Amino acid sequence: MLRIEKLTKRFGENTAVDTATLHIDKPGMIGIIGRSGAGKSTLLRMINRLADASDGQILFEGRDVTKLTGKARRGWQSDCAMIFQQFNLVPRMDVVSNVLHGTLNRRSTLVTLFNLFPLEDIHRAIDILDRLGIAEHAPKRAEALSGGQQQRVAIARALMQDPKIILADEPIASLDPMNAQTVMEALHRIHKEDGRTVICNLHTLDTARRYCDRVVGMRDGRIVFDGLPEQLTTGVAREIYGADASFSEAATSTEIAALAAPARDVTRDAEAMI
Ligand SMILES: Nc1ncnc2c1ncn2[C@@H]1O[C@H](COP(=O)(O)OP(=O)(O)OP(=O)(O)O)[C@@H](O)[C@H]1O
Ligand SMILES: [Mg+2]
Repeated sequence: MLRIEKLTKRFGENTAVDTATLHIDKPGMIGIIGRSGAGKSTLLRMINRLADASDGQILFEGRDVTKLTGKARRGWQSDCAMIFQQFNLVPRMDVVSNVLHGTLNRRSTLVTLFNLFPLEDIHRAIDILDRLGIAEHAPKRAEALSGGQQQRVAIARALMQDPKIILADEPIASLDPMNAQTVMEALHRIHKEDGRTVICNLHTLDTARRYCDRVVGMRDGRIVFDGLPEQLTTGVAREIYGADASFSEAATSTEIAALAAPARDVTRDAEAMI
């Protein structure tokens, strides 16, 4: 289905993603883990064509999506909807209009400019919100909702595109544990019930273990682990994060990066904060 072959992204001297190869042959819920700067976001951004690859290929059902331009590229971006840590909603706009903007790729500028959405789309948006348990918030401004509710609006907007793949970049990193659980359960249901593939960058190990059927570990731009959640032992996790014996399973990738960083970096960060 999706075959990523030796995908590489260079920013000047720095190789953010280094010959990453990943084959997804059946719909899955895939978690990507790794410390801060490992290349997780860059990988997702290349899949969605928000960033261009420096080298390598992304094949979806046999078609090289790295080569798509114009309308074909926008079509691909509809097929693989992206969800972000900060939701990326229009805060002052009502929830249902935010969701309807998920059809933006398919509609003319005029339609979107005047919010002239067809009634069937409005019904579909409400149905999707209902499925995610937030239909009653449809007329409210997005900014009036809690973080977890806003992230579910972002998921609804993604579903409006009827995507084959959902790419989620740290979707729960800004949420409290209760909201995080609701959002992960929503993503999991979308995978299970709809057969969509969800690829999710996660910053805690326990979330990857609990919700994903496959975990990919990145370190310094490379894929260094690709296996089942149960194969993700503490030892393997320590390798992925490049952490020492003080490594804690409960720590987030940002905390681990700070732990594993050379002492002078920590001092420099501390100085920068003063
Ligand atoms: N637009 C950019 N220009 C230059 N360098 C970049 C750019 N985007 C990312 N990088 C670099 O690429 C590397 C990988 O970054 P990326 O954001 O993909 O990591 P990440 O695993 O998502 O980290 P985090 O967990 O902090 O989100 C880092 O060294 C980063 O500084
Ligand atoms: Mg990132």
